[in-house]
Amino acid sequence: MDRIRIRGGNALNGTIPISGAKNAALPLMIASLLTDDTLTLENVPHLADVEQLIRILGNHGVDYSVTGKRLAHDPASGRTIHFNARTIVDTTAPYELVSKMRASFWVIGPLLARCHKAKVSLPGGCAIGTRPVDLFIDGLRALGATIDIEAGYVVAEAKGGLVGNRFRFPKVSVGATHVMLMAASLAKGETVIENAAREPEIVDLADCLNAMGAKITGAGTSAITIDGVTALSGARHRVLPDRIETGTYAIAAAMAGGDVTLEGTRASLLTAALETLGQAGAEITEVENGIRVVRNGNGIQPVDVTTDPFPGFPTDLQAQFMALMTRSQGVSSITETIFENRFMHVQELARLGAKISLAGQVARVEGVAQLKGAPVMATDLRASVSLVIAGLVAEGETEVNRVYHLDRGFERLEEKLSACGAEVERISG
Ligand code: UD1
Repeated sequence: MDRIRIRGGNALNGTIPISGAKNAALPLMIASLLTDDTLTLENVPHLADVEQLIRILGNHGVDYSVTGKRLAHDPASGRTIHFNARTIVDTTAPYELVSKMRASFWVIGPLLARCHKAKVSLPGGCAIGTRPVDLFIDGLRALGATIDIEAGYVVAEAKGGLVGNRFRFPKVSVGATHVMLMAASLAKGETVIENAAREPEIVDLADCLNAMGAKITGAGTSAITIDGVTALSGARHRVLPDRIETGTYAIAAAMAGGDVTLEGTRASLLTAALETLGQAGAEITEVENGIRVVRNGNGIQPVDVTTDPFPGFPTDLQAQFMALMTRSQGVSSITETIFENRFMHVQELARLGAKISLAGQVARVEGVAQLKGAPVMATDLRASVSLVIAGLVAEGETEVNRVYHLDRGFERLEEKLSACGAEVERISG
């Protein structure tokens, strides 16, 4: 199993290209199931989760081909992938595949909409809480599906097709909003989703679906209206920049100090996180085609943070921000409101000398003058990158084990950081 070794102490200076968003690429790829025509996605990141989803979609009969492989003069460019689901050969998504990635559960929406039936295993994914699927089930039932749980599978059917309806989510869910958008696009009549997720990735999916012929308005607000159509066509769509990767490198620059330009991204995708980083002492400016983050050796200020659905501070940056706060000149509190078990990085950060105490959903982080390198274990995707960020300033060597978590969501992390002067290397095997 690969490991990442970091020798701390170097500032970051240079440019980091930001990849296409994993959390947009996945639902966009799944949307290819909605049409017998070709859906072409540009700027698809090179990530283990993307490869895994290609395998899962292949099981349903989706063919794919890749063009525009990485260009020598533009090593950061994502791939262009053509997906074609002319014939759906199987409407079952088996446990062996779905358990590896929670987002693959979302195939239930397009399969039900297009084939009027789906049998999808209950999901797995990062171990960050129970993550139930009740919101998906209630939403799809509102569109007329009958749904049973049988032997670990969600078995859904909509004889005669889905029918539009008004549905209010009792809780904001990104995945359930994606699924409702896809399902309602091919339902008869109008669907109104209330208390919808407002994440930029929802807007990206709605834009792509509209390019395919769907009639969706209001994406990016809490009320989305979908006028069902009888069929969708192919389209060409560019995956939006990864705001979590952007925020992660912005936090890394704030941690290590230096001057880093994050290229190919947009500040408007992560306003709350950038404001918080500004309060912590980083200077953040919008530049042409990106964001510049500078911290010139002044101390890191403590800032209290509470995670929230978009446009709030993202839960996917909570671990990284906690790593930053371990070096602040004071005490900060970090409250996690989205997932109940998303503090597994705390004990690993403690191995590096961080002082963090937990009380329920609140972490109290007391800044320390120095972290010390140690072997640590990646426990989930975002937690693992928080350990890399801590390693950038820890005295001596930090070795992050179980890097496969990192590879699910961060493309060429060690290359991107090394290019800015960090001593980071991957040790294979
Ligand atoms: C997506 C993101 C993930 C991010 C999360 C919250 C992708 C591939 N993943 O995950 O990186 O951390 O949004 O921003 O885009 N819930 C229920 N019942 C359900 C569904 C969800 O109770 O049926 C709960 C979850 O347990 C969680 C909360 O709702 O507590 C939010 O989860 P959700 O927004 O659905 O997260 P994901 O879509 O899985």
